[in-house]
Amino acid sequence: MNILGISGSPKAGGLTTLLLDKVLDGAKRSGAHTEKIILNDLNFKACQECGGCDKTGICILDDDMRPVYEKLAGADAVVVASPIYFGNITAQLKAMIDRCHSSWIAKYILKRGLPANKKRKGIFLCVAGKNTEEYFENAKKIVKVFFVTHDIDYLSDLSISGLDAMSIDDPKREAALQRAFQIGTNLSKSAL
Ligand SMILES: Cc1cc2nc3c(=O)[nH]c(=O)nc-3n(C[C@H](O)[C@H](O)[C@H](O)COP(=O)(O)O)c2cc1C
Repeated sequence: MNILGISGSPKAGGLTTLLLDKVLDGAKRSGAHTEKIILNDLNFKACQECGGCDKTGICILDDDMRPVYEKLAGADAVVVASPIYFGNITAQLKAMIDRCHSSWIAKYILKRGLPANKKRKGIFLCVAGKNTEEYFENAKKIVKVFFVTHDIDYLSDLSISGLDAMSIDDPKREAALQRAFQIGTNLSKSAL
């Protein structure tokens, strides 16, 4: 089972990335093959709506999104992680999702199916500084659209709010990391 983790956080040591690492660790220890993409490390443009994918469903921009498309196509499960920025997912993650307009064209306009018999599952991890639960709902809606476009079932999510008031040894933080590890274990086992 190939599990692809995608982090929309620019912070290497932030809770978003730590939660993603825990999910991937749990999955790996249960036999999955895991890979992580840190969008902030990539060099790619936001969608230009140039129409270059209209007839093929393939984006014509030649940048770091190229391998991301390949990895997305080959993944059995996708774990997306983002902190809340101004009430929603980060710009890095939104830019990647918008670049999947080519996949949307392929699926809904060109009616091209995805590889047969591929069970695909999705998990969303989200972290916020304040206790702003409605922002998680904003973020989930966008991730759900992304998953649907890629025929990925939205399996579950883990949302941690109030990080600004949490110390590094806060039990809630540790519990979240343990939960993330369990999600990874379950995700791996669910498709074995
Ligand atoms: C540009 C920016 C915008 C933010 N907007 C929000 C927000 O709307 N609501 C909120 O609760 N926290 C907001 N935060 C706080 C982050 O969600 C919080 O610091 C989060 O823990 C960062 O996650 P990470 O350290 O795991 O990357 C914002 C932080 C930044 C830098």
